[in-house]
Amino acid sequence: MAPPRTEALMQYGYFDDAAREYVITRPDTPRSWSNYLGSRLYGGIITQGAGGYSFYKSGGTGRVLRFRFNGVPQDEPGRFVYLRDDADGDFWSASWQPVGKTLRGTVEAHADDATLDAAGNPTQASSVRHGLGYSIFNSSYRGIDSEATFFIPQGQAFEYWSVKVTNTTDAPRTVSLFSYAELSNEWNYRQDLENLQYSQYVVVCRMKDGMIHRLNSTRERTSELWFGMAGADVAGFDTDRDAFLGAYRTQSAPIAVERGACSGSETTGDNACSTIQARLELAPGETRQVIYMMGVGAPDASWEDADGVALRPGREIMAEFGTPEAVSRELEAIREEWREYLAPLQVATPDEQMNSMINVWHAYQTHMTFNWSRGVSLIEAGDRDGLGYRDTVQDMLAVIHAIPDAVRERLNMILTGQTEEGGAMPLVKPLTHNPGHEKTPTLEQYRSDDPLWLPITVANFVYETGDVEYLDQVLPYADHGEATVFEHLKQAIQFSLNHLGNNGLVQGLQADWNDCIQFGTTGESMFSTFLMANGMRVIAELADQTGRHDDAEWARHVLDGLEPVLENAWDGEWYIRGISSTGAKLGSDALDEGKIYLEPNVWAAISGTVPEARAVGAMDSVYERLSTEHGVALCAPAHTKEVPGVGLSLLVFPPGHKENGGIFCHANAWTIVAEGVLGRGDRAYEYYRAFLPAKYNDQAELHQVEPYVYSQFVHGPESPRFGQARNPWLTGTASWSYVGVTQYILGIRPELDGLRIDPCLPEGWGGFAITRRFRGMNLTINVVNVDGLATGVSSVTIEGIEVAPFDDGKRGALVPVEALADGDVLTVTMG
Ligand code: GLC
Repeated sequence: MAPPRTEALMQYGYFDDAAREYVITRPDTPRSWSNYLGSRLYGGIITQGAGGYSFYKSGGTGRVLRFRFNGVPQDEPGRFVYLRDDADGDFWSASWQPVGKTLRGTVEAHADDATLDAAGNPTQASSVRHGLGYSIFNSSYRGIDSEATFFIPQGQAFEYWSVKVTNTTDAPRTVSLFSYAELSNEWNYRQDLENLQYSQYVVVCRMKDGMIHRLNSTRERTSELWFGMAGADVAGFDTDRDAFLGAYRTQSAPIAVERGACSGSETTGDNACSTIQARLELAPGETRQVIYMMGVGAPDASWEDADGVALRPGREIMAEFGTPEAVSRELEAIREEWREYLAPLQVATPDEQMNSMINVWHAYQTHMTFNWSRGVSLIEAGDRDGLGYRDTVQDMLAVIHAIPDAVRERLNMILTGQTEEGGAMPLVKPLTHNPGHEKTPTLEQYRSDDPLWLPITVANFVYETGDVEYLDQVLPYADHGEATVFEHLKQAIQFSLNHLGNNGLVQGLQADWNDCIQFGTTGESMFSTFLMANGMRVIAELADQTGRHDDAEWARHVLDGLEPVLENAWDGEWYIRGISSTGAKLGSDALDEGKIYLEPNVWAAISGTVPEARAVGAMDSVYERLSTEHGVALCAPAHTKEVPGVGLSLLVFPPGHKENGGIFCHANAWTIVAEGVLGRGDRAYEYYRAFLPAKYNDQAELHQVEPYVYSQFVHGPESPRFGQARNPWLTGTASWSYVGVTQYILGIRPELDGLRIDPCLPEGWGGFAITRRFRGMNLTINVVNVDGLATGVSSVTIEGIEVAPFDDGKRGALVPVEALADGDVLTVTMG
């Protein structure tokens, strides 16, 4: 158990950028700090306490390891390895939890093994290195050091728990190792956790040929989870959870560990676990490596799953991969894989924390949201299995430059989630999605914003790849019919135009971006109206550049017609949020609560569809009324009462929480883009810094969640929890803040004709460097800003030769794609 902390330590770790790791030096972090393992084939989550779970393709329907969400502590069970001194029975765990010995501090300071706590008990040094796709736990306790490395090899459906144990003393020691995880009884996590009258009686777990096999019959076939150990003899095993733990015990003190011997239980029904014991005789200075492995496979012969993935028997995998050489090789492969994923965009700026985030963790997070959408975290239990439409379209934005092929595949799929009338299925389930045959949602079920994100992402995909032919690709609609990609985009706009309200704004329907604001079919959303306007602007640009002049005309014509509607939505100092069925204006000074909302105002500026003075006025109001030291609140004052005619499910949240006046980080990212568009570098940077996770590295007790990951929100100024961040990892914050900082502060954006270089910097920045992949070319861009300007580029040279022409009347410089070659070094002079 965690000892009470007396000293107020605000920092629990540091960024090791060279290793691309975050090193947790105190594992008693304010909340569980997680990492992700594996791929979309077989993935996992692991916390700084080795809590977490694994899943095959889906956290919701392919659950491998059980996890009790919102438990106490927050992150159990997980992947635990117990160590036991067989001379005196004292035991601890390779991760600080679950045994939870008194902490001594960092492993770097481990030399003094005699260190005792106040009660005279030995103390444990424990640290965790979260890397990209792996986590390493170091421990030092009473002269026994251990290093446990957890990861899932590239392209494989199994995981490694590799444990090195070293006797640092000058006497021989006998140490027992016990592995432990709770295997799920059912692939479906809900069945496993809730339908106990069934799931408790289906599990069968056997020890065969030195390996544990969970053999459950499913409708399709006998599937298997296997768990084995290499590098030591099997000294004992348990596959029955309760036999291992013992009655009325927790994972902090299993009876088998305390006793020093397993009972050889083989479970039929109830609950399974994966415990294999090794007994290590360690000479002074000796290190032994024990490799636990577990995965999805077949009992006997190889078989193909429903998607044609070949799964092999565990014993074959063990034979091939169960060696120290294989562990090192596969770990290196994971590191290399991530180095390659991140290489397409690396920066060196005057802001170290910005560098740590962009170069490592922020980019990593954008891949995690792309991989796992909103399906698997400590918060997302698996219920949100599938791809939320708007989330998915936005998640792609930040990874196009890095993984264009994967994005194309996802884009194709999500475009086929659009219905013929132009709306979108709120949720697309990739494992069962059946384009052309999906049920058409009712008007009431549609979200007004869902398809309106498509123009932004498709345009960016085309600009990044240069593949204009993509726009001609024919893709089916979800329900019936088919159309080219470009027509899909127009149809998204048409859907909104077909569903305008009495005031000419877009009907809000089930929700717009804000899940909690329901304007329905008779109320209207100004956010969706601006998103539609932005979509038309984007479509017009795309059409102009690809010779679709009629379409460009159409988009401009409709946009012109919208002008009076946009103007009417001006409340005096900002734009309203929407108009309810009864005529109440949300986000208006006329109300007592919810006077001003962030979303319409940022999108007014981003869309470029309102006069500049209006955009500036709107963003100044945001600054004055919503901005705080920890980010920008979504609205103010927060709601405590109904607004007539608006379904405000945000009223379920106390003021300052989530959508009700919380600092919704996803929407905060748009403030960066908006100020970037306006050219106000100081503001853009101030907004960026306000919710930058790394900024909170030395205020961890305030921020509480991982300082290396963006969160969905931070509690707002009206909450007693102001400044505490929540829902880390799977959030649209990841992609939009990445777009904000890389494309609108550093200002490197793809366009069809080339790369736009348009920095929008804070005062006093002398410049920065960025390496970026663009259409297969690796470019280095050195931006020199001797006068410390916010914006403006006076020259671009490549290898000393001035690039021309780059001035197309827009801000910054457009470097034509023909002027670029792989390996080029560009010098950009601001002026
Ligand atoms: C969550 C949802 C997202 C929604 C946002 C605001 O992040 O995943 O779809 O836009 O909340 O309600």
